[in-house]
Amino acid sequence: MELIDGNKIASDIAAELKAEVATFTGRRPCIALVRVGDDAASISYVKKKENMAAEIGMTSRLVLPPVSITQDELCALVDGLNADAGVDGILVQSPLPKPIDEVAVFRRIAAHKDVDGFHPLNLGKLAQEDPTGFVACTPAGIMELLRRTGVSLAGKHVVVLGRSLIVGKPAALLAVQRNQWANATVTICHSQTPDLASFTRQADVLIAAIGKAEFVTADMVKPGAVIIDVGVSRVPDATKKTGTRLTGDVHFPTVSKICSKITPMPGGVGPMTVAMLMKNTVKAYRQNNHV
Ligand code: GUN
Repeated sequence: MELIDGNKIASDIAAELKAEVATFTGRRPCIALVRVGDDAASISYVKKKENMAAEIGMTSRLVLPPVSITQDELCALVDGLNADAGVDGILVQSPLPKPIDEVAVFRRIAAHKDVDGFHPLNLGKLAQEDPTGFVACTPAGIMELLRRTGVSLAGKHVVVLGRSLIVGKPAALLAVQRNQWANATVTICHSQTPDLASFTRQADVLIAAIGKAEFVTADMVKPGAVIIDVGVSRVPDATKKTGTRLTGDVHFPTVSKICSKITPMPGGVGPMTVAMLMKNTVKAYRQNNHV
């Protein structure tokens, strides 16, 4: 079994972006990071994005509206960033507080600054295989992990567990694309799929993004499969000082014994998501400024 080292691959991408950004003669690429409220996980994710932007030589602008912000106020804030010529990419960290319609906020972000790839125009471009669009960072990161570890999906059966806008749906669309690293046959399974294990057992590559801690067990996996674990859950663990630990959607101790390659958690998909956000921001900078 080979561990797919997301930290290493993400830092390779960061180094490539740093070299690219160093060639720009004008201002640095800038990403606006909008975080509403004080969700502990969101604080940590946004911090990672700030740090990687700084490491690459990009600038970031942290915007921290209060948890009480209204839908209209948040839309007005996004409008301001859309109109700001100094901002290349805009990220509004999900999840947003309950009363806010998240999809409406994602739609409000100008498509040409939508480095998260959640705007309908960018989702449409993904379906049309138009390379000028932005692809959501987690699925883009998964494809990059596979490509950089020499796993082509061509002719393989990819089973995507989960149908979210952020991961499942775009991951499936990428895997079926007509290119050398994709060309997969894809099945999307989800919480309403009957006899889920009968599908996951057919997977040559299993992308687990169902959001249930350690849901995928060894009996659900074909020996020799490649396993991509997208989940992040906190579970009780009496052996830890904090009483909890982070785990993925895959039961790592048993699945890692029978698969050929697997992403660890942490250190797998997570760092790639941040790296791809930076890659999308550099792409937005180039496209919007004709660099
Ligand atoms: N929350 C979890 N993943 C993501 C992501 O890729 N983008 C945003 N904006 N929020 C997230």
